[in-house]
Amino acid sequence: MARGAAKVGPWSDVPRQDGRRFVVTGANSGVGLETARTLAQRGAHVVLACRNAEKGATAARGIGRVDGSVEVLALDVSDLSSVRRFAAEVGDVDVLVNNAGILGVPFSRSVDGIELQLATNHVGHFALANLLLPRLTDRVVVVSSQSHRHGDLRLDDLDWEQRGYSPYGAYGASKLANMHFLAELQRRLTAAGSTLRATGAHPGSTATAITSSSGDGLLAWVGSWGHGLVGMKPLQGAMSTLYAATMDVPGNTYLGPHRLREMNGWPVGVGRSRAAIDPELAKAVWVASEELSGVSWPLG
Ligand SMILES: NC(=O)c1ccc[n+]([C@@H]2O[C@H](COP(=O)([O-])OP(=O)(O)OC[C@H]3O[C@@H](n4cnc5c(N)ncnc54)[C@H](OP(=O)(O)O)[C@@H]3O)[C@@H](O)[C@H]2O)c1
Repeated sequence: MARGAAKVGPWSDVPRQDGRRFVVTGANSGVGLETARTLAQRGAHVVLACRNAEKGATAARGIGRVDGSVEVLALDVSDLSSVRRFAAEVGDVDVLVNNAGILGVPFSRSVDGIELQLATNHVGHFALANLLLPRLTDRVVVVSSQSHRHGDLRLDDLDWEQRGYSPYGAYGASKLANMHFLAELQRRLTAAGSTLRATGAHPGSTATAITSSSGDGLLAWVGSWGHGLVGMKPLQGAMSTLYAATMDVPGNTYLGPHRLREMNGWPVGVGRSRAAIDPELAKAVWVASEELSGVSWPLG
């Protein structure tokens, strides 16, 4: 078993979720859409947190008839004012699924001046979780990636000003920040005596639109070739997230597919990189994230 892996799973079904409210960020596409669809089929109310209203509405229509219900609420997670507006509007939530993501985009900054992959994949989700924590009843799910293992996360150069920008290094850095957030959030919840928990998941290699989000034609081609070879359909790719969101697993559990170096298969507890289990780094990333987002730990 890989470093730090929890002995959980595999499972064969997602339990009923009647009466529970979930928020899924980036729910109009890929893993997020299948996560939202399955939760609603199991009886949940799911808030589809989407940056594009039209795509959100199309996704909601596509989910069709379900035992539960869905609604679309605007969220651009890379924009901290949008995150604050969303948190103020969404009401009570049982489970927050931090799923939205972009991959390998050329260097740019968010409206708040933060490198865009870090802003989208980590900082906005960090802010959202901390703003919602006082109103959550169950957990925060962090969607990371095997790419966290190659993340070039330098706290003294989050803006890539001292080194050449690497689109994939920056993606990995944002996903390593996700891993630190998962571990440090659970440490803080436990220290505060909270019954809330933080869990994590990654979807291995799943055939979604993410490889084309970079606008890099070669990556899109290699991505679709790789996905054709070993990739899963989005519903199977969503299973790790679904189990992290619904199963009675310990806080800081991290799930991913069980075979082909975690690229394909059914969810089990998986390991993480040496950097991702460094508690001091996790604390430092938390402090940096508070500074970048202007949002701090809300539970005293
Ligand atoms: N697919 C894989 O093999 C793989 C592997 C490892 C990890 N992951 C992770 O899985 C998660 C889901 O990705 P996916 O593969 O399902 O990709 P996807 O199909 O491209 O979905 C990404 C979703 O995030 C949304 N999004 C992007 N930027 C946003 C923003 N600023 N505000 C709100 N929503 C935003 C996208 O919305 P738009 O449609 O408007 O762009 C889309 O709905 C990501 O965190 C990704 O890093 C995926």
